[in-house]
Amino acid sequence: MTANLANNPDATAPVTEAVRRPTLLICDDEDGPRESLRVIFKGDFEILAARSGAEAIALAQQHRVDVAISDIRMAEMSGIEVLERLKFVDPGIEVVMMTAYETTDTLRQALKLHACDYINKPFDVATARAAIASAMQKRRMRDAETDGERKMEEMFAELQNHKIQEQIAHARNEIYASIIHDINGPLTVISGFIQLMNTRLANATTPTVEDLEFVRGKLKTVERQTASCIEISRRYLSFLRRSESPEQTGVGVNQLLADLEQLVRVHPSLGSHQFTVHRLERDIAARMNGTDLLQILRNLAVNGFQASHIPHSVEISGRVLDQPLDLAGLRDGPADRVLNVEGCENTAPLLMLTVRDTGPGIPEDILPKVFHPYFTTKGEHQGTGLGLSIISRLVKQAGGVLHLHSVVGEGTCFTLYLPGKPVTAQP
Ligand SMILES: Nc1ncnc2c1ncn2[C@@H]1O[C@H](COP(=O)(O)OP(=O)(O)O)[C@@H](O)[C@H]1O
Ligand SMILES: [Mg+2]
Repeated sequence: MTANLANNPDATAPVTEAVRRPTLLICDDEDGPRESLRVIFKGDFEILAARSGAEAIALAQQHRVDVAISDIRMAEMSGIEVLERLKFVDPGIEVVMMTAYETTDTLRQALKLHACDYINKPFDVATARAAIASAMQKRRMRDAETDGERKMEEMFAELQNHKIQEQIAHARNEIYASIIHDINGPLTVISGFIQLMNTRLANATTPTVEDLEFVRGKLKTVERQTASCIEISRRYLSFLRRSESPEQTGVGVNQLLADLEQLVRVHPSLGSHQFTVHRLERDIAARMNGTDLLQILRNLAVNGFQASHIPHSVEISGRVLDQPLDLAGLRDGPADRVLNVEGCENTAPLLMLTVRDTGPGIPEDILPKVFHPYFTTKGEHQGTGLGLSIISRLVKQAGGVLHLHSVVGEGTCFTLYLPGKPVTAQP
């Protein structure tokens, strides 16, 4: 490998340099200097030649220009304007100005607009070469810098993405753990009832009618509780299996709301706040993984409780919309933030769910920040600042829309719109 590199020095050069020659844009309305510059630099650069400022700008818009050289005095657009507009197209273009008898004012103006250098006209080849070479070096350094910055940004975004995925998985596991815990309740009842029946029958050599009645009654409860365990495990197993699939389970939202109520009732932040869950009048399934929907609603409810220690209420309700949303009416404002209007799958039936609290509300200056990852107004050990960014990701994945409306002193209301589909899973 080392020997190979030594034999072929080009192999160590960055790939981009190997495949791309730098581009030089020459702008002069006089044919003579323009053509001589072309001849001087054609060995080292891809050359773009423009007879006017307008042509130069158009070329810069169509190509990636590294360095430009422009006359200052031209009939139509002045070189100063060309410089300004080239920098507007791409601030990274290094521009060398050519001057004949300009005032120092013009030169000062050019430098203020970040011209890289200037050469006098008529120029000699050595001066032109030196000016363009140093402009190209500047360009390379700047590219390396922005490359580094871009890489840092990419790394940071990836890290953030990873952290959010981790949090989503963590919250999912938490939900599954509570579900297993929920199955424990009925199992305890079943076990207790079986014990009762055992004791009753243990002493009866010939069971009486009363004994049989007793056992029959207890068996009914056992049957009900067993069915409930089977139903819970079936539902969540189906979520687990389909968690990666776009075609989601058809479990009704009312069933999920019942599960949610149980999950939230045991949440430590409930405290003495009032918590109400209203079922939908007409049931529907969301085209979204059930555990993800539970996660969204639980995060919103918990945020509602945590908004203030002063007891207040958090209420969840919803309905089915048989018409598409009026998306034009959903806009950001001083009391409103709307997420994912552009990615909304706006076809009826839609499921609308609201989580409303009568907490303190969110101040206008904080509202635009609440969906940013890691933004939190809570103490170090209370908030991660990831709850709402997780929610926004899940809503986007599902093609839904989230509308946040909050007024200080009145409270906060999150409205979630999701594509719906008929309930298909067995209750
Ligand atoms: N219902 C609400 N009432 C008041 N403020 C809220 C509410 N929901 C969210 N917020 C604000 O949004 C911030 C970000 O919320 P979130 O992303 O869930 O992170 P965390 O709860 O960890 O702070 C919260 O710290 C809070 O300032
Ligand atoms: Mg939160």
